[in-house]
Amino acid sequence: MLDSNWLAVGLLRNIPPQGSRVVRTEHGEIAVFRNSADEVFALLNRCPHRGGPLAEGIVHGRLVSCPLHAWQVQLDSGEAKAPDIGCVPRFPVKVVGGEVYLGLPAPTTSRARLNTVD
Ligand code: FES
Repeated sequence: MLDSNWLAVGLLRNIPPQGSRVVRTEHGEIAVFRNSADEVFALLNRCPHRGGPLAEGIVHGRLVSCPLHAWQVQLDSGEAKAPDIGCVPRFPVKVVGGEVYLGLPAPTTSRARLNTVD
């Protein structure tokens, strides 16, 4: 049984490998990333440098490169890769039966969906 803080946001197959989708929540835009190993991560969609849209960055391994000034941010911690310094909030995320669940800090009744672009 899933905790009520886990929000179903869409199917894993709707996130391209080495890509991401944005979920708009009451906590702000959250970028949900999928890497080439099908690992899933969720970070606030704001680069720790100047707030760039991390969801538009390039995913490689467990890193995303920000599209604005190419800082690299660790997907599993939200920390900027040295020598850069900074951290972006990270959210728990899991996949159950092909569905992606985002763990939000407080109970929510809203149902967000992956923002798909076709
Ligand atoms: S805003 Fe992301 S590297 Fe500058």
